[in-house]
Amino acid sequence: MAISFESLDSDIAGRTGKLVAGKKVIRTPALLPVINPHLMLVTPKELKGMGVEALITNAYIFSQSMQYSERVREEGLHKLLDFDGVIMTDSGSFQLSVYGEVSITNKQTLTYQRDIGSDIWVPLDIPTSPDADRETAEGELAITMERLREAKELFGNDAPIAGPVQGSLYPDLRERAGKEVGDLGFTFCPIGAVVPLMESYRYRDLVDVVLAAKRTLPRSACIHLFGAGHPVMFALAAAMGCDLFDSAAYALYAKEGRYLTTHGSFKIDELADLPCSCAVCRSHTAEQLRTAKDRTRLLALHNLAVTLAEIARIRQAITDGTLWELVDERCRNHPQLLSGYRRLLQHNAELEQFDRAHKRRFFYRGDESCARTEVLRYQRQITRLRLGENVLVACDNGVREGYDTVLYFKPPFGPYSPDLKETFPIGQSEIPEWDAAMVRQGCKGIRMLADSHKDSRIRVCGLHAEWKNIFAEELGQTAELIE
Ligand code: GUN
Ligand code: ZN
Repeated sequence: MAISFESLDSDIAGRTGKLVAGKKVIRTPALLPVINPHLMLVTPKELKGMGVEALITNAYIFSQSMQYSERVREEGLHKLLDFDGVIMTDSGSFQLSVYGEVSITNKQTLTYQRDIGSDIWVPLDIPTSPDADRETAEGELAITMERLREAKELFGNDAPIAGPVQGSLYPDLRERAGKEVGDLGFTFCPIGAVVPLMESYRYRDLVDVVLAAKRTLPRSACIHLFGAGHPVMFALAAAMGCDLFDSAAYALYAKEGRYLTTHGSFKIDELADLPCSCAVCRSHTAEQLRTAKDRTRLLALHNLAVTLAEIARIRQAITDGTLWELVDERCRNHPQLLSGYRRLLQHNAELEQFDRAHKRRFFYRGDESCARTEVLRYQRQITRLRLGENVLVACDNGVREGYDTVLYFKPPFGPYSPDLKETFPIGQSEIPEWDAAMVRQGCKGIRMLADSHKDSRIRVCGLHAEWKNIFAEELGQTAELIE
């Protein structure tokens, strides 16, 4: 019955894994398309055919539905929706955040979700607005936590119940919530009330909120980002350790005539061509799609295909250890995403603890790459190099005599000993022509080496004239520049 999660490969704080709910297993990261029984543009059976292993629907909508409330009690969700994968149900909390109130209690919604055969149940948490003052956020969090405690008491520790993390924009409240949710024994933890942040492109705040929750949640918990819609931000969220995304965006965008891509969305009226290889785009021209009778459905199918492909790409990037490259690529598609990405890099010390040691490669993609976890980790490890008294850092990688230790130099990492030449990250990093940012970062490596080896005297040689000023500026008295 209980929900369990096993992680396989990891990259940054992201991971690939397996979520087990009852007897069903799904691969993560995963997309849970949102299904509204009253307006199904794509049926659950079709979703299954596209590779969807889990979906999410709203128990509150079912309970209020003239058409379905009886039937779902008799048949159960899986039969009614004709879907044998994992079905997660949301409570009514989202309606609560939009309309202000709902006519059910926590106990009622959980009992109902159990009775209709849901695989993952969500209590009646309170999604506190990002604009709430601290007192409100704290008060609402207390109610949410009380309801989570009640859920455990009523249904036991093995019931497949999600433990949402609330706390609005207050990092310490998110941390407290993460800790308490973990202590209560929840292994499936959605991060809630982030939809308004994503809707207004507040990715910087999103990063702070998710990382605050992640800091205290158990590493072994499966993390669901509630209401994450647009595929352009999935890589960023995955890098923070989010394992599941639910998305109504495929349908909502389709209804507005919008065509999703991993670098943004377009109005279908603006497109002269269809830059995609899904079944819809291969069998229609832009003009045919625009004027098709079932245009909304076709757009929904395309939007889903793009979204699912992005999940597959993220899984592959995690397996290869190239998630930073993917995050970098995606986050350059909108200035606010770039802000979120830069914020993520500011949290590099925290992320480094999750990151793995060996990756397939490191491609330098500009200034931002200097703050990557691999650079931080490498420079921390530099302090453990064994050095003689007279040390030379030969920036031209040439052979030198007369020194106790000769090191080479690779920006943005810094000095390295010849026996690290083939190992990650020195051996697997590809950098373009030097630029100022990477050279400054590399010099920091030399400074860290000097600081941790006070008995050694470090000299630097083999520098092209162009870089001498930066080295002199960065190194000051810590190392001497020679020819
Ligand atoms: N859907 C989007 N955000 C939320 C949230 O915070 N809680 C619940 N239960 N559902 C959501
Ligand atoms: Zn397409």
